[in-house]
Amino acid sequence: MIIVFGSINIDLVARVSSIPRPGETVLSPGYETLFGGKGANQAIAAARASLPHRVAMAACVGGDAFGRSARDNLVRNDVVADLVVDSAEPTGCAFITVDERGENAITVASGANASLSEATLRGFEANAATVAVFQMEVPFSASLNVARQVRAAGGRVIWNFAPAPTAFSTRDLSDLVDETDIFVVNEHEAITAAKLLGCETDRFEDAGAYLSGSGCTCVVTAGAQGAFAFHSDGRSEIVEAPPIRPVDTTGAGDTFVGILASGLDEALSFTKALQRACYGASLACLAYGAQTGMPTRAQLGVI
Ligand code: RIB
Repeated sequence: MIIVFGSINIDLVARVSSIPRPGETVLSPGYETLFGGKGANQAIAAARASLPHRVAMAACVGGDAFGRSARDNLVRNDVVADLVVDSAEPTGCAFITVDERGENAITVASGANASLSEATLRGFEANAATVAVFQMEVPFSASLNVARQVRAAGGRVIWNFAPAPTAFSTRDLSDLVDETDIFVVNEHEAITAAKLLGCETDRFEDAGAYLSGSGCTCVVTAGAQGAFAFHSDGRSEIVEAPPIRPVDTTGAGDTFVGILASGLDEALSFTKALQRACYGASLACLAYGAQTGMPTRAQLGVI
C-alpha cells in the first residue's frame, strides 16, 4: 500500500508568451482552475499506474469549495481520502504561469497544507509493505516523524525534495536522508542538497553520487536527459526519456515520483520501476495541467 503524506492545492493556471520577470506584468487570455499540489499529484499518478485501491493520502484542506472538490477528485481517481481532513485555513492554492515552451513558474500559498501533522495519520498502521511518499510543501517535522514511524515498521520511504526550501538546515537535511530509502530530486535540487551536506559542485551527477553516500538511493530527474539513479553501493543507472515536445511540464516530477512508488509497491525491479516512471513523466508533459496528462496503467503499457 502506498501512503502519500503531503499537499493538496488548487492550481490557477495562466498561459503566457513569456513568464514575467520581477516588476513586469504580462497578459494572458484567461486562466484555468485545475487540481494540483505535489502530494495530490503524486497520489493520483500512483493510483493511475497501480492496480485498484493501492493508494491513500493524508493531507489537510480548507472547509471550502476548493477543499471539497479536491477531496472528490482524489476519490474519483481511486485514492483513499479518509485521512484528508479539514483545517481552519483555506485550501492551498498555486498560482502558475506556463510559457510557450511548456516551462512554468509557480507560487504556492500553503493555506491548509501548513496544518498537516502526524496526528492526521491516526488510525493508519504502517507495515513492511508500506511505501510512504513525502515532499516539501507541508511541515517538515511532521513528515519526518511519519517517515520514522514507517521505517520503524519496516516500510520504505520515498522523499521528493521539492520544492527545495530556501532555508533548510544541514541538520534537517541529514535527518531527512537518514530516514529515506529513495531521495528524488531534479538537477537543481540535487546541487542544492549536496551543497547543504558539504559538497560544492555544479554537476548534478556529482551531487547525486554524493547524496547516495548517505545510504539512500538518489534519483535525479533531468528532464529530456532522463533519470539518473545513484545507489549507496556506488552503482548507478541511467534511463533515457522518450523524445517529446512538451506542452506543460507542470507535475512531471510528481508523475515520476507517483509512478516510481507504484512500481515499487508492485514489486517491480528498481530499474523497471525507474523506466516506467520516466516514460510516464514524459507522457504527463503532453497535456496542459499537472494531473490531466498523467497516464493510466493502460497508457503505460501495463495490462
Ligand atoms: O509540481 C506541480 C505542483 O506544484 C502544482 O500542481 C502546484 O500545486 C504546486 O504544488
